[in-house]
Amino acid sequence: MRHINEIEVYGKSLLIRADFNVPLDSNLNITDDTRIRSVLPTINYALDEQAKVVLCSHMGRPKGQRVPSLSLAPVAKRLSRLLRKDVRLAPDSTGQEVERMVQNLDQGEVLLLENLRFNPGETKNDEEMGRRLAALADVYINDAFAVAHRAHASVVAVARYVPEKAAGFLMINEFSYFHKALEEPARPLVAVIGGAKITSKLGALENLLQRVDKMIIGGAMANTFLKSLGHEIGQSLYEPAMVGVAGCLLELAKELGVKMFIPCDCVVAERPEPQAATKVVTGTEVPPEWYIMDIGPATSLLYAEALANAKTIVWNGPMGAFEMDAFSRGTYAMVRHVAESYALTIVGGGDTDVAVHKAGESAKVSYISTGGGAFIALLEGRDLPAVCALEDRFEDIDKEGPPSRCQPEK
Ligand code: 3PG
Repeated sequence: MRHINEIEVYGKSLLIRADFNVPLDSNLNITDDTRIRSVLPTINYALDEQAKVVLCSHMGRPKGQRVPSLSLAPVAKRLSRLLRKDVRLAPDSTGQEVERMVQNLDQGEVLLLENLRFNPGETKNDEEMGRRLAALADVYINDAFAVAHRAHASVVAVARYVPEKAAGFLMINEFSYFHKALEEPARPLVAVIGGAKITSKLGALENLLQRVDKMIIGGAMANTFLKSLGHEIGQSLYEPAMVGVAGCLLELAKELGVKMFIPCDCVVAERPEPQAATKVVTGTEVPPEWYIMDIGPATSLLYAEALANAKTIVWNGPMGAFEMDAFSRGTYAMVRHVAESYALTIVGGGDTDVAVHKAGESAKVSYISTGGGAFIALLEGRDLPAVCALEDRFEDIDKEGPPSRCQPEK
């Protein structure tokens, strides 16, 4: 994969694929512009090189329809402010009007194309859409790590038709931290995996077990592990179809010599609601009508000890229902452990970075990935379509991932 600073971009027209899929409130105000700021190094580099900059991105999932609330207009406005220059928004991502606007672009100017997913060809990886996007520029730069796991037209098809292509600085950074954390890690390497479901992270859990020294489990997925050990978990959320898989993962960890940590106590609530009565119980004493909502204080302590000698920590997924104050202590304690660690610390996945930011600890984490699904795909050991496309390995895009040993019963 070539890097943007390894190719000649001076004075050329650049199509930069970014991921500006940022959260908006009901008045269409951007509530977190991290993903926009993360692409600024690439945009500023292009501007310093007197390039004509054409930016493109998706926003939400409009399913090929023009959905006004998913316009990139708020992004154009925010970019104008951040870049201190006018960023115009094209009415579409392809078509004659867009081509005219691109032709009229001067060196050092920036144009943002409208939401790529308003065009049905985008998510279908349509060749014609890829060809039209490619025709807009001399060079294609992919800096959209968060969508690198999608085989979409602006990520894959476009790369067949551009004369030159390379990765932007955000993409380079994401892969470089991932490499340091999982390909050549300083050991002990500890993975902290939380969140609700084993199903959505099974590939990541299996792949990580082959690489890590310790694995710490939190969130509702820990309930499925507790169940697999025969514990009663009351009314707690768990995945009945994955109980066998959880047992298989524990077995696999033992075979591989990976130390697995699951909660020894938990915060339970009478109802899964913020105002409900709560108490702390051990993992074997969950009352039949109660719900596990967070890891308990003893577990937090145990996890802190497990992390104490870590040289590398990779964290994805909260420890409990941290969006409700009463059940947020486990997750915020984990933020503290990670922030205070001397290890290389990599955090990824929507909810996890929200917790780190909310706790005001983002500056103390070595790297916070901008990817949700893309970060998980990397943890699964998958070849990302965006990388295959940048490296002209189109035939690798639909290849199966590594074989799985722990499969749910049919
Ligand atoms: C994300 O938010 O994870 C990326 O923008 C990808 O969005 P998607 O899941 O809708 O493809």
